[in-house]
Amino acid sequence: MREGQPTAIQREAYTAPAFWIDTVDLTFDLDPAKTRVLNKMRLRRNPDVAAQALRLDGEDLNLARVLVNGGGTSFKMDGAQLVLENLPEGTEPFDLEIFTTCNPEKNTQLMGLYVSNDSFFTQCEAEGFRRITYFLDRPDVMASYTVTLRADKAKYPVLLSNGNLVEQGALEDGRHFAKWVDPHKKPCYLFALVAGQLVAREQRILSRLGKEHLLQVFVRPGDLDKTEHAMNSLMASVAWDEARFGLPLDLERFMIVATSDFNMGAMENKGLNIFNTKFVLANPNTATDMDFGNIESVVGHEYFHNWTGNRITCRDWFQLSLKEGLTVFRDQEFSQDMAGVASARAVKRIEDVRVLRTVQFAEDAGPMAHPVRPDSYVEINNFYTVTIYEKGSEVVRMMQTLVATPNDLQGRDGFAKGMKLYFERHDGQAVTCDDFAQAIADANPGSALAHNLSTFKRWYSQAGTPRLQARGAYNAAERSYTLTLSQSCPATPGQDSKQPFVIPVTLGLLSRDGQALPLQLAGSAETLTQQTLVLTEASASYTFVNLDSEPVPSLLRGFSAPVVLDDGLSTADLLCLLAHDSDPFNQWEAGQRLMLQSAVQALSQDNAGPVLSDELINAMRNVLRHPALDAAFKDLALTLPSENYIADQLSVVDPQRVHALREAMRLQLATALQADWQWAWDAHKNNGAYSPDAQSSGRRALAGLAMGMLCIAAVQVGDDVTPGRVYQQFKDAGNMTDRFNALSALVVSGHALANDALALFHKLFQHEALVIDKWFALQAGAPDRAGDVLPRVRQLMQHADFSLRNPNRARSLIFSYCSANPAAFHRADAAGYVYWSEQVLALDAINPQVAARLARAMDRWSRLAEPYRSAAKVAIERVAAKADLSNDVREVISRALNAA
Ligand code: BES
Ligand code: ZN
Repeated sequence: MREGQPTAIQREAYTAPAFWIDTVDLTFDLDPAKTRVLNKMRLRRNPDVAAQALRLDGEDLNLARVLVNGGGTSFKMDGAQLVLENLPEGTEPFDLEIFTTCNPEKNTQLMGLYVSNDSFFTQCEAEGFRRITYFLDRPDVMASYTVTLRADKAKYPVLLSNGNLVEQGALEDGRHFAKWVDPHKKPCYLFALVAGQLVAREQRILSRLGKEHLLQVFVRPGDLDKTEHAMNSLMASVAWDEARFGLPLDLERFMIVATSDFNMGAMENKGLNIFNTKFVLANPNTATDMDFGNIESVVGHEYFHNWTGNRITCRDWFQLSLKEGLTVFRDQEFSQDMAGVASARAVKRIEDVRVLRTVQFAEDAGPMAHPVRPDSYVEINNFYTVTIYEKGSEVVRMMQTLVATPNDLQGRDGFAKGMKLYFERHDGQAVTCDDFAQAIADANPGSALAHNLSTFKRWYSQAGTPRLQARGAYNAAERSYTLTLSQSCPATPGQDSKQPFVIPVTLGLLSRDGQALPLQLAGSAETLTQQTLVLTEASASYTFVNLDSEPVPSLLRGFSAPVVLDDGLSTADLLCLLAHDSDPFNQWEAGQRLMLQSAVQALSQDNAGPVLSDELINAMRNVLRHPALDAAFKDLALTLPSENYIADQLSVVDPQRVHALREAMRLQLATALQADWQWAWDAHKNNGAYSPDAQSSGRRALAGLAMGMLCIAAVQVGDDVTPGRVYQQFKDAGNMTDRFNALSALVVSGHALANDALALFHKLFQHEALVIDKWFALQAGAPDRAGDVLPRVRQLMQHADFSLRNPNRARSLIFSYCSANPAAFHRADAAGYVYWSEQVLALDAINPQVAARLARAMDRWSRLAEPYRSAAKVAIERVAAKADLSNDVREVISRALNAA
């Protein structure tokens, strides 16, 4: 990292490797202070590339020996690379043996081989394998691995690596060994080893074809009672990929291992997934419904990579979305299928879109904006972004929509056919996003995707969020309705002008009284109640016929494209959609739009009256009291847009005003609907024995929202009865979801009982690291009252349980404050920014990847109102002035400064 000047890597500069590595035989003598790594490789020259020296990547390694075909050889170092110029000529394979040592216990970056809680773990994606041995550390070099692990048997009884265990036994001096062979070729970023004192929950399963597999979830002794849900999720994932895509488990044994020190959420190493404990460990007493849901989706995600990422991998890191966007799409679909009924599927879709719009749209509008397939990067770790993941998933989803047919309205069958062709063509290869899109299109020759493929692929090459304008005109004489769609896309860094995107617009039409109207395009005999228009030009018009009155259009149903929609609908239109739209996404969206409009309007005026109209309050009451809607949907519909999302609608942002306004809106909802909240709490709070299913978690979510609102209303009038009841629920709760909702209701409302509850919570869960993370996060994210959050955060930094070295802990306190609590962070005295710059620098010395993520908290600084804007700039410049910043942080900071 800190070696030499950072240089940007260009996608167009890709060249195939000059050598192939066919086999790798690794032997590890594991020792925390000095681990020895013997790496025996069989290489050959790539006949398609001009003869040249072999340049192997390495980082933080001590090199002891290099042998070619068993004999000494000359070599030199060029920066961090090991260069061999005198290798055998011709295309015959040759042996290369490299012996190095490294220091896992000093590895605070958590990339390569590191120690956590006295166990060894590895993290190699994207470029961590070079911290284990010298290698061609690039995803298009796929090799067969044999791995022998040797370690002290008492300290490290469990020795794991990829593939199958072929041999194990005792060695001298209390040591033992295990030898693993991976039957599949893989890029080095999928290598993994684990060694330590671990125990496993085990499950044998039969595939559809009757093959037996062993599933294992490894955790520290004492955590086994928190592994049932992860195992259930893994079994469900295996079954789902077989059922929906015909993709079976291709290994005899599939392992998941949990570690509490992990930079990311989880990692899909072949047959040996390594997980952050946060996404494995759960029981009803320690984990919330959201934790249970996340575990299901992350277990699914990493498992699904086994085909989309591992069997077919990326040619280079610019193609990252090939595996990540596709696998997020697959995990989203998995979670929806697990949720079951249509309304629960819609709830999951709404949650996913909410993340996309609040986080990815903001990224697209800021200094880090980049295409789904970027053109250049300095540090690849900075490009594991919501654009690669969430927008990448939307691009895949649009492909599915664009291969739909009358018999396959969602395009599921067409998309599955495309996946089948993708595997027929590319199994075992390292490929590009183009290869993927081509396979989906070729498998669906008559589809809109096939017709528009080259234009469609602009979604991969152009950054920025398109604006879609829609205007309708009703012609009473002709009984027709003409809808005109036009698109544009704002400039992003390095891309001043954009060409039109292919935008699938799924729509329906409603009568004013809420009935679905038949959709019949002029010149077509077909009538449907829902249809997908495909906009391929800057603008196009569509005329619908046989309409007796002016319809209300429901556009972009299910969020059919990742765009900002300007449909020009009136308040009356939106109220109609909120009450009647049969598409639950658009029904939710109508409510959000109404609240957002009220917020933006109030911010543009200065009058202090009530923000939400009586009409809107009544409409919200109707949703809350609706006899047929799901509790989970009601919870989402009655949750106000976040401060960040409101801020995104403004060209100049005063975070204090946005906060004050949102608080006022919330208080208004809390008091105006008080009786309804009371009803909602009473009606949803008792849910029997805990189960994390969609139904009962929805009920808990709505009860939690209602309880929070009741607390806010109570504190406003000095009523201590309701907070007292909430405190009682906090103490008596039968599960973490109810308990944490009660705790957070007290903290958010600012009632005096909050401090007692926080203290008791800490006492009850002091030995549960993941719960203590919640305790830190709740306090760092609490509503700011006269600047009280920052002093609390600084005080918590001194708490015995705090540690900057543990990424989960650092995130729970520092990130919750800097990234998730705008009003507490953007202080007029700039003290939040000073804190941010201190923490970025402190973290950078320990873990650059985590530091760079924190650095991004300032992405949108240039839109801030004064005095925030100038103060933010000073803080960013203070970080930039540090001479030996990591490339990770340097890249984020320089982009931020270039933004203004
Ligand atoms: N391949 C990634 C993990 C990863 C990311 C490793 C960046 C190295 C650098 C993994 O498949 C992944 O995407 N994990 C996500 C969670 C997932 C459910 C979206 C993560 O870790 O955040
Ligand atoms: Zn992934």
